[in-house]
Amino acid sequence: MVSFVCGIFGCLCDGAPQVILDGLKRLEYRGYDSVGVAVINNNKIALEKDKGRIDQFIGGLDETRLYGEVGVGHTRWATHGAPCKENAHPHLDCTKTIAVVHNGVLENFLQLREELARKGHHFTSNTDTEVIPHMIEEGMKAGLPLKEAVVQATKSIKGSMACIIIGTSEPNKMICVRRESPLVIGVGPKGAYCASDIPALLPFTKRVLIMQDDTIATLERGRVNLEEIGGGAVEPQFSNVTWDLKMAEKSGYPHFMIKEIYDQPVAIRDTLKVPETFLDRAADLLNDKIYLSGSGTSYHACLSTSYMMSRLLGIDVRPVLSSEFNEAVSDLQGSTVVAVSQSGETADTLSAVKYAKGKGAKILGITNTLGSSITVLSNAYICTQSGPEIGVAATKTFLTQLTALDLLTLRVGLKKGRISEGDYRSMSQQMNRLPRLIEETLGRCEKVKELALKYSTRRNAFFLARGINVATAMEGALKLKEISYIHAEGYPAGESKHGPISLVERDFLCVFIAPRDATRGRVIGNIMEMKARGAEIFSIITEGDEELKEVSNEFFEVPEAPDLLYPMLCTVPLQVFAYHVANFRGLDPDKPRNLAKSVTVL
Ligand code: G6P
Repeated sequence: MVSFVCGIFGCLCDGAPQVILDGLKRLEYRGYDSVGVAVINNNKIALEKDKGRIDQFIGGLDETRLYGEVGVGHTRWATHGAPCKENAHPHLDCTKTIAVVHNGVLENFLQLREELARKGHHFTSNTDTEVIPHMIEEGMKAGLPLKEAVVQATKSIKGSMACIIIGTSEPNKMICVRRESPLVIGVGPKGAYCASDIPALLPFTKRVLIMQDDTIATLERGRVNLEEIGGGAVEPQFSNVTWDLKMAEKSGYPHFMIKEIYDQPVAIRDTLKVPETFLDRAADLLNDKIYLSGSGTSYHACLSTSYMMSRLLGIDVRPVLSSEFNEAVSDLQGSTVVAVSQSGETADTLSAVKYAKGKGAKILGITNTLGSSITVLSNAYICTQSGPEIGVAATKTFLTQLTALDLLTLRVGLKKGRISEGDYRSMSQQMNRLPRLIEETLGRCEKVKELALKYSTRRNAFFLARGINVATAMEGALKLKEISYIHAEGYPAGESKHGPISLVERDFLCVFIAPRDATRGRVIGNIMEMKARGAEIFSIITEGDEELKEVSNEFFEVPEAPDLLYPMLCTVPLQVFAYHVANFRGLDPDKPRNLAKSVTVL
């Protein structure tokens, strides 16, 4: 299967190529192995594309070839088939008068390609996308105008697609199609734009329209015509984005990841403002049969919440990795699945959601992306308020997921009578202290940089904890491994003696998450086991915990806090640690190899 996680951008405005390249830079987090731009000039399509990152591409660009007012661009992440010039988008038809950029996966492209080849079409890439311009060409040969030819092609194509199409037959138009993959339209004083997400549009406009599945839009300067693919006009519903461009940029930080780590107090403060009506609607979906599902970091939020719900509600809920959900779970009748996904587009999570819905489960979505597929598929959803997260490694979206899930847990507890009104009030007040406590923790993180330097040459690390902070440990290990490429494992400290401890020898790095909670005593026991084998101990502890300082080689003190807040507070130094280790190793923390921010393939 050839498939992509990609960013697409199109515009109708003066100086289109520059605008497209600017837009693509903001979409680079979606993929960065090849890039391409096509514009209409002198009634011809001018096309430039290549393997590599956007800055490299711009460096080698012959700008005299690319000028015009209508164009499309693409930034690609290949999962199969070499990232190379031929496979880079845009793709053209045989007559080279139609250009297409696409994000998604076409399921029946092989069959379509064979049919088109039999009709004499010539293909120049291994991509699934290339069938689209040739199918449009077929429709136009039969006399259809561009948009109608796109509609006809779309009806024969199976799979997911967000596409932007331009053609020389109508050189002042841009056609945009959405099915499953995200696509957003923006209209500003200087032109019309279309992109995979909102931040790419922000330099040009704040008036945006989130396209719904199976719709097609025709954009002209100053005019947007929206329809369902099956026919029937749709009234375009624009809204004003409250994010400003600065929020989507680095605000003076060297990387998005560290900026986003420092964004966390604000993101949490905003998430704490989730209206009670939203929480109530979400809480009403929860019963005693609850599954929590997500991938990567979002799964860690699920795991953490399962401990929280068990402790505060007395309900044993089951966290299940989305990629395993369909195999691991069958009895879903009368259950609720809480689907956690910052992007709302992760294919594994969407697959779990569709499977669960098919078996009668209700879906509660927790996402950072309004208008994403998760919000469309859910019976209710809570939108975390992180704003755009550009760094590939999830940071602020994780803490806001935990915040939203804690608020939800408390609300369910109150409604079901499992938490008294007094306890609900006092725990809500504790939650409100969180942004300040995170700020205080961040204020201490200069020390983490020193420790990152000390440990940056290690080849292995364990991240260990007990209870709810097992999820914190797993998240710390994931952050370190994904951006620094150091082998790191996070698992329950009590499991060491059942196998992993055999790896421990002199100087083996063990990071313990050991705040002053009910597990502390037993965690100290595990530290001693590791120390006895010569391990180097770096502990995250509650301030002033002298005993833990004593048994650790290095420590980081988080502020004294209620147990409820320790998973968030202890995550912060682990994020900062991973960030600095990656830097000291000369790696780009925003763009780890082989990873993408939003994985829309199974
Ligand atoms: C990718 C990202 C991870 C993320 C996971 C789930 O693998 O690289 O950082 O945790 O997807 O993403 P989601 O958008 O569903 O939270």
